[in-house]
Amino acid sequence: MMRWSLVSLVLALAVPVLGYHKPRPLNARYRRQAPTSVKNQTQSPFLNERSTDFAVNGSAIPLVDFDVGESYAGLLPIGNDTNSQLYFWFFPSTNPAAQENKEILIYLTGGPGCSSTGELLQQNGPLLWQPGTFQPVQNKWSWHRLTNVVWVDQPVGTGFSQGTPTATSEEDVAQQFLGFWQNFVDTFAVQGYKVYVTGSSYGGMYAPFISSAMLDRNDARYFDVSGMAIWDGLYSKIPLTEDIPVAAFVDKFKSVLPFNDTFTAAIKAIDAQCGYTAYLDEYLVFPPRGPQPSTLPGEDPATNLARPECALYLAVFLAATELNPCLNKAFDVTSHCPVLFDPIGTTLPTAFPTPYFDLPAVKAAINAPANTTWVFCQNPFTNPVFVNNTDRSLNAGPGSQPVLPGVIDRTGNVILGHGERDFLVLPDATLLTIQNLTWRGVLGFQQRPEAPLLIPAVDNANVGTAAAGFGVVGSSHAERGLTWFGAAMAGHLVAQDQPAVAFRMVEVLLGRVEGFESVEPFTVDMGGGDS
Ligand SMILES: *[C@@H]1O[C@H](CO)[C@@H](O)[C@H](O)[C@H]1NC(C)=O
Ligand SMILES: *[C@@H]1O[C@H](CO)[C@@H](O)[C@H](O)[C@H]1NC(C)=O
Ligand SMILES: *[C@@H]1O[C@H](CO)[C@@H](O)[C@H](O)[C@H]1NC(C)=O
Ligand SMILES: *[C@@H]1O[C@H](CO)[C@@H](O)[C@H](O)[C@H]1NC(C)=O
Ligand SMILES: *[C@@H]1O[C@H](CO)[C@@H](O)[C@H](O)[C@H]1NC(C)=O
Ligand SMILES: *[C@@H]1O[C@H](CO)[C@@H](O)[C@H](O)[C@H]1NC(C)=O
Ligand SMILES: *[C@@H]1O[C@H](CO)[C@@H](O)[C@H](O)[C@H]1NC(C)=O
Repeated sequence: MMRWSLVSLVLALAVPVLGYHKPRPLNARYRRQAPTSVKNQTQSPFLNERSTDFAVNGSAIPLVDFDVGESYAGLLPIGNDTNSQLYFWFFPSTNPAAQENKEILIYLTGGPGCSSTGELLQQNGPLLWQPGTFQPVQNKWSWHRLTNVVWVDQPVGTGFSQGTPTATSEEDVAQQFLGFWQNFVDTFAVQGYKVYVTGSSYGGMYAPFISSAMLDRNDARYFDVSGMAIWDGLYSKIPLTEDIPVAAFVDKFKSVLPFNDTFTAAIKAIDAQCGYTAYLDEYLVFPPRGPQPSTLPGEDPATNLARPECALYLAVFLAATELNPCLNKAFDVTSHCPVLFDPIGTTLPTAFPTPYFDLPAVKAAINAPANTTWVFCQNPFTNPVFVNNTDRSLNAGPGSQPVLPGVIDRTGNVILGHGERDFLVLPDATLLTIQNLTWRGVLGFQQRPEAPLLIPAVDNANVGTAAAGFGVVGSSHAERGLTWFGAAMAGHLVAQDQPAVAFRMVEVLLGRVEGFESVEPFTVDMGGGDS
């Protein structure tokens, strides 16, 4: 079924690589200074008879010229069904606090159908190979410096996972994940660990349903969910996520979306006719006046999408790519030409024709199935991860809103953030969703989020590798166990654009610092003026 979806847009508009941007030479000084704590695996609490088969030799990862440390990777079945298996790459933490507190954090990329292994390499993992850069480097912002982290390719059909996709809803996705998780906990003997579920983009569907299903099991040996964090998540129907906030977004980003007068007038006319900015004026207020309707203005209730004459986001996006053909798949409205070489991308220069994770030597090094073709994101039309490319929870329902309040109520520790430059999932959509949730008995935030998002000082002497802005880099707000942040200089890929914000988010999630307003330095040494 040819449904329009976020990822189909991403894929449809994927542009060929236009040039190879010669990167800066790698700075040897950074490499010496880079934090590295390669543990002796024979002393690891995670190494046992069952897990030994999954051990990865950290010095033998192709094209990586440093030791990534202790890690485990491979396939584990979903429950007792060995025909369906999920792929994981698990990095025990280099931080003693993670073992003392018995914590494990799960990271889920969105899509649907995009690989978490891919974002390990380009967002928040120990080895980082970002678009346009020459080779993998050590990532001082890797989340495993804070806690034990596992990246999982899910649901079935994604990345290196095995089996025939059977999911028709997020309830199905959650049951797949829980079956896998039981085996993971048993393999690494992490019974009784506090579980933190994190994700991005379509992870705004996955993470709440998985967290909720785990909490429903009421079994702290396997499923002690203690917090959840998501950025640039999709939680609600597409018109709310894209069409309703788009005119306001265009207005805010005039300098990089310089539409001509005719088109600007057309946007205003459609916006007025379909009632979009009027909807923001009515519902994006603090405190909210009341719950939002279940059918949105401009929506066709048969598809849950905007009616053709109200499909404002698509019109704006297509016009934007006329002005800026390198709009980077909408991940960041400020992106521009040239399109950078992407080692995991769908378009690669002939000098590097295969995505990194599809190289046979890479698969062998990380216990990945040799006979599975790895792509970062599955094409939803040819290889959907939901049967008929339809996730009932979104295509026929209000998204993850039905389960989000229960996760906040039961954990008191949920973070929903957004990169303000995201032109794929628009930032106002997260706030609109929050204003339609009732948790701890009250609807929405009572106050407008305008506290600072504070990042402690960072040493940026070497901007060639892991530079990150600091100071007040956006806004934040917390009420009744739910925390918001808006990262002013990040797009859809927050950890790639603002790694310090993503790192701070994990510190807040784990309770290592009070919140985003805290002036405390980072809790691990960042090798700069912060300690
Ligand atoms: C790792 O630890 C074991 C047991 O303590 C020890 O025998 C071995 O020499 C250590 N290996 C390295 C490389 O440090
Ligand atoms: C890990 O890989 C390195 C580099 O190929 C090799 O020298 C070393 O012997 C390997 N270690 C183990 C335990 O296989
Ligand atoms: C596998 O089956 C056994 C026996 O029915 C059951 O006890 C166990 O919980 C199952 N394992 C998983 C991971 O579902
Ligand atoms: C807002 O919440 C109500 C009550 O939970 C729900 O029925 C409605 O579908 C939601 N509206 C939107 C636009 O998501
Ligand atoms: C104005 O922009 C629209 C959308 O990109 C385009 O179709 C149209 O041709 C432009 N008009 C003029 C006069 O440039
Ligand atoms: C891939 O290989 C594994 C064993 O290495 C096998 O179990 C699996 O069935 C194979 N998958 C396909 C699609 O051939
Ligand atoms: C998927 O589509 C086929 C063909 O239209 C239909 O027979 C089947 O019932 C659909 N499955 C689901 C789960 O919607």
